Amino acid sequence: MLKKLFSREEIDKAVKRLASQIETDYDDEKIVFICLLKGSFMFTSDLIRKIHNPSRVDFLRVSSYGSGKDTKGKVTITKDIEEGIEGENVIIVEDIIDSGLTLTRVRDMLQDRKPKSLKICALLDKRTRRKIEIEGDYVGFTLEDGFVVGYGIDFAEMYRNLPDIFVVVED
Ligand code: IMP
Ligand code: MG
Repeated sequence: MLKKLFSREEIDKAVKRLASQIETDYDDEKIVFICLLKGSFMFTSDLIRKIHNPSRVDFLRVSSYGSGKDTKGKVTITKDIEEGIEGENVIIVEDIIDSGLTLTRVRDMLQDRKPKSLKICALLDKRTRRKIEIEGDYVGFTLEDGFVVGYGIDFAEMYRNLPDIFVVVED
């Protein structure tokens, strides 16, 4: 069963807040947004439309999840970004930080390419579930636990199209 957790209005408010924090921090500097596919495609498209800095967007796909609910320790890149990021201000846009394994791997890999700066913007943060220490620089909502879907986020590839965020409740 799905129970609504964050409405589209609440999401929009959070995205606006993140966008204005980013605009404040980056002044008029150029930003390269790296959207982690697939989960953050909707979040990225809403976020970047609210930011007026000169921007690029690129897409990175890693697999750390099968069809289950837990990260399998190993993270592999299945689709790399297409442009270089050396000397750029890069913001990784992620749907959820959970154990932190995915983002740590992604951040280290991108850091090797010598960006000018590298930050993390995550819509949701399950802080209490970390297995490795990593913080989002911009975070929309903090969650205790629970498995969520909607607004781009899936369970076994389903529910990404829902405009609100729901928690999956066992029944
Ligand atoms: P981590 O490596 O454990 O931090 O996993 C992060 C990734 O797991 C996120 O990018 C999501 O794709 C996925 N994930 C974590 N929690 C959830 C959830 O509640 N619903 C759907 N996907 C999730
Ligand atoms: Mg993901």
